[in-house]
Amino acid sequence: MLRGDTIGLRARHEEDIPILLAELYDDVVNSARAEGRPWRPITPGSNDPRLVVDDTNQVNVPFSVVELEGGALVGAATLWGIDTHNRTAHIGLGLLPSTRGKGYGTDVVAALCHYGFVVRGLQRLQIETLADNTAMLRAAERNGFVREGVLRSSAWVLGEFLDQVLLGLLAEEWKAERKA
Ligand SMILES: CC(C)(COP(=O)(O)OP(=O)(O)OC[C@H]1O[C@@H](n2cnc3c(N)ncnc32)[C@H](O)[C@@H]1OP(=O)(O)O)[C@@H](O)C(=O)NCCC(=O)NCCS
Repeated sequence: MLRGDTIGLRARHEEDIPILLAELYDDVVNSARAEGRPWRPITPGSNDPRLVVDDTNQVNVPFSVVELEGGALVGAATLWGIDTHNRTAHIGLGLLPSTRGKGYGTDVVAALCHYGFVVRGLQRLQIETLADNTAMLRAAERNGFVREGVLRSSAWVLGEFLDQVLLGLLAEEWKAERKA
């Protein structure tokens, strides 16, 4: 398990699946805002990769997020789009509604950075999020991510086109910040 200050990133367990399905992926608004594709219901028992992990997939590494104290499930996080030539990857995360706003998201981003830069030896991590997702933008910036641009009207979300912000963090920046 990867440990942050308050959260851990561990493997997906069978008992996580109904909770993630009900509280994250069955929430149409959350799904429409967090994923770049149209919401559709996930059939219980399906092998949807958001729920069931394919350990042979080298490109995406999904985690379940738990509280270090007590071990309760609080969400899901992924290092996705791992490109071992350019040594880049993307970060994605979603927390259960009752666990948001407590600092966990910031801690999850920190743990994913450790995984990407230290465990995987990547050079650049990237986040794309809706321009109005203040919590995600702050969680990223708290970890040193820099706003690199706005992808204007790039996301179709529940009846309108919204802007996305592209944020990036380089390994040397992250390491320098940790030494300071
Ligand atoms: C986005 C998300 C992961 C952030 O995690 P979180 O635990 O809620 O965020 P934190 O508690 O670490 O807060 C991070 C910062 O955002 C601020 N913040 C938190 N919730 C906020 C809200 N609803 N509105 C405005 N600011 C908010 C915090 O004050 C903190 O700011 P600071 O660093 O300046 O003090 C979480 O809210 C979530 O899962 N949202 C739904 C799914 C989603 O949007 N995923 C990202 C898709 S790219």
